[in-house]
Amino acid sequence: MLELRQVRKHYSTAAGPLEVLRGIDLRLDKGQSASIVGPSGCGKSTLLNLIGGLDKPDEGAVWVEGRDLSTMNEEALADFRNRFVGFVFQQHHLLPQCTVLENVLLPALACGRLREEPSALQRRAMELLDQVGLADRAGELPGRLSGGQRQRAAVARALLLRPVLLLADEPTGSLDEQTAVSVINLLDEVHRLYGLTLIVVTHSALLAARMQRRFVLSGGLLSEQTQDPVR
Ligand SMILES: Nc1ncnc2c1ncn2[C@@H]1O[C@H](COP(=O)(O)OP(=O)(O)O)[C@@H](O)[C@H]1O
Ligand SMILES: [Mg+2]
Repeated sequence: MLELRQVRKHYSTAAGPLEVLRGIDLRLDKGQSASIVGPSGCGKSTLLNLIGGLDKPDEGAVWVEGRDLSTMNEEALADFRNRFVGFVFQQHHLLPQCTVLENVLLPALACGRLREEPSALQRRAMELLDQVGLADRAGELPGRLSGGQRQRAAVARALLLRPVLLLADEPTGSLDEQTAVSVINLLDEVHRLYGLTLIVVTHSALLAARMQRRFVLSGGLLSEQTQDPVR
């Protein structure tokens, strides 16, 4: 369902070109979960953005669900993201002036689907809020939630349009350990429940070990860890 072949990406900087990804190969089956670890600045977010169609590679192919993202224009990429991908970031990126429910509905508003099927989407949003343990907070502003609750709301938002691919970039990076564990459990749960392909970039050994496949990004190359982690 997901395949990267010899993907390269550089950024132009004042000091000259910065080669970040130098030939990434990756294959994941539909429904698998994977972690990507590596030091700060090694290109983890860059890689995740290419997989999610937020950016395009300089060279190589990024195949998701039978489509090569590297050949798509901006409009096709936006459509691809709406239909197939859910994102969760380190910061929750909830809009402070919108209620929790409105925030969960935002992806549908942004792509026009909220107008087409408002009641079905409202129901879906409430079900997701229930699933992440926030049904009774739907009408509140995000500012009144704890960090962990905000991240749970962000997970619900990412799932609204039923993505087949859930991408999480350091989703527990701003949470204390106990809260992080609850978000890790939630990601694990939604992965199993919805049969999503889940890719998590993380510094958390705990979270990385929970994924079915584990990769390390280093020197612009991705390698798979084959040893069983200590659980
Ligand atoms: N838009 C950009 N322009 C120039 N350099 C960038 C840009 N985005 C990221 N970088 C640089 O590319 C490298 C990889 O960044 P990133 O993918 O964010 O790493 P990570 O997520 O592993 O911390 C870093 O050195 C970063 O400074
Ligand atoms: Mg990053």
